[in-house]
Amino acid sequence: MTENKFSSSDPNSFSNPDEAVVKCIHLSLNVDFNKKILAGFVELEVKKVEDNATELLLDTEDLKINSVIDLRSGNNLEFTFSDPDKIFGTKLAIKLPDNEESNIRILYETSSKASALQWLAAEQTAGGKLPYMFSQCQPIHCRSMLPCQDSPAVKAKYTAVITAPSELRVLMSAIRDGEPIKNSDGTSQHKFHQDVPMPSYLIAIAVGNLESRELGPRSCVWSEPEYVDSAAYEFAETETMLKKAEEVCGPYVWGIYDILLMPPSFPYGGMENPCLTFVTPTLLAGDRSLAGVVAHEISHSWTGNLVTNRNFEHFWLNEGFTMFVERKIIQRMQGEKIHQFSAINGLNDLREAIKVMGADSPLTKLVVNLEGVHPDDAFSSCPYEKGFTFLFYLETQVGGPDVFEPFLKKYLDHYKYQSIDTNDFKKFFLEYFDKNEKSQKVDWDKWLYTPGMPPIIPDYDKSLVLPCTELTNKWIKWDGSNPNPFTEDDLKCFDALQIQEFLAQLLLANSFTLSKVILMQEIYQLNKYKNSEIRFRWLRLCIKARWYDVVPLALEFATKYGRMKFVRPIFRDLGKWEETRDEAIRVFRAHQHQMMNVTAAMVAKDLEISLDV
Ligand code: BES
Ligand code: ZN
Repeated sequence: MTENKFSSSDPNSFSNPDEAVVKCIHLSLNVDFNKKILAGFVELEVKKVEDNATELLLDTEDLKINSVIDLRSGNNLEFTFSDPDKIFGTKLAIKLPDNEESNIRILYETSSKASALQWLAAEQTAGGKLPYMFSQCQPIHCRSMLPCQDSPAVKAKYTAVITAPSELRVLMSAIRDGEPIKNSDGTSQHKFHQDVPMPSYLIAIAVGNLESRELGPRSCVWSEPEYVDSAAYEFAETETMLKKAEEVCGPYVWGIYDILLMPPSFPYGGMENPCLTFVTPTLLAGDRSLAGVVAHEISHSWTGNLVTNRNFEHFWLNEGFTMFVERKIIQRMQGEKIHQFSAINGLNDLREAIKVMGADSPLTKLVVNLEGVHPDDAFSSCPYEKGFTFLFYLETQVGGPDVFEPFLKKYLDHYKYQSIDTNDFKKFFLEYFDKNEKSQKVDWDKWLYTPGMPPIIPDYDKSLVLPCTELTNKWIKWDGSNPNPFTEDDLKCFDALQIQEFLAQLLLANSFTLSKVILMQEIYQLNKYKNSEIRFRWLRLCIKARWYDVVPLALEFATKYGRMKFVRPIFRDLGKWEETRDEAIRVFRAHQHQMMNVTAAMVAKDLEISLDV
């Protein structure tokens, strides 16, 4: 047993990249649906950073390590585990050979409870006939899939050879090496390579009955056959978005940009796995109104995947910048008014998040302290929207997009293939704009280290939000006297984002009565909306107004999908309402084993109950 010391560059990792660093990862794994495990080996190409480094420290979580071999000599290498840490897993220390560079093979298998992996039985898939497995490694779950330096400070290339039942297709966050090769035992081999060095949290795998449709010259969409045509329609703008992103950020270095439409239990809206973005099926609105998530994940190809936060304390460098680039794509495709409207929309999410966390919560700072804190527990809209607001403010301050966009490109080019922290950004900004008077007046400490709402809120163009605010006020001020002043035409000239904004404003308002939501349903038929962002806010508004009739609908929505953005607030709301609390807990218990690990853990927290019964 060795002591648990954290990485010098990352409070959430036990690895030691400042002494010896993993440069390349080769995975060779068998996907075992019976045991729900991945089993095989990983080879790590390790380079000493310090000449006298004696050991390689890796992160693991619930892994079974069978042996460790030095491939040069063929000798076994000594390895020791430290005491498991409840939050961050178990440090694995491997004694290094004397050479400066070594190739180490680790034979291992995952646990059937690996936090990165979700195993779906055939009945849980759209087709109902074949099983499915997928991973979600960000922020720090890769350690449950392979022993690795699970810190975004470390970037490595990877290759993989994956064996799976021949009826299934394997996809990874990498380039496919040809078509699968059939073995004689009913399995096939799928090969991949990722030549761009990337952090461990971007390693991703999905195995299922998957089919593809072409979206553009470098893009396909993949999903179970049942959804592939809807998905192809919904994400048809992918190539246009890629081109706009390249205009803003520079060349796309990852070659392929495919999209995988995930099973309903996928916990996020989207995940920027290189070469293969994962997206939730809650984006299938039928009218492309939620495709902005794809613009977001495309943007990560630069902000996050090329220039990466050194650890998750600087997560805003990933997500704030990505919101900023996402909205630049939206601006180029839909115009300035929609761009600014989307920014206003984001401020609602930020207000809501800060309301839940408390305005003095240290986790509402732009740069957070994650010592002893799991980044999943720190997750919120703050790095996204406070980060966006800061960048929008900086852009305005230095003279607008004409001045800021060339800077952004230069910043991305300067730090590409690296992992950086907020000070690197600050330094680069101040040097680039050293002759720009206003740039030197930015109060960095206030923006970065003060909790609560941003110190300055830009004066966005309100023309698209105004009709929403007017309708909100009309509903709030209406005293219930008859005849009521509302008609179904109120929403006729609103687009999906405006309906969403209208509902978000009502949600932020202090009180809204039961009779009003009932009337609203009668007039606007909001129960019928399929757009998940609209449905989510409408259901929450009804719960807030204590409309008991919608509770079954809300629970159905929150158990059909695993997207935490929707599931968590609904369970939280129902858990806080005395009359629905027991029912919410009962439904959660009945579904928790079908949920992904993170989702179940977070909802248990939101309901203030323990995960195990
Ligand atoms: N990288 C995130 C998802 C993520 C964050 C996974 C932290 C695990 C830990 C992804 O790019 C994201 O931000 N998704 C958003 C999209 C939205 C902001 C457009 C989501 O899931 O809703
Ligand atoms: Zn993101």
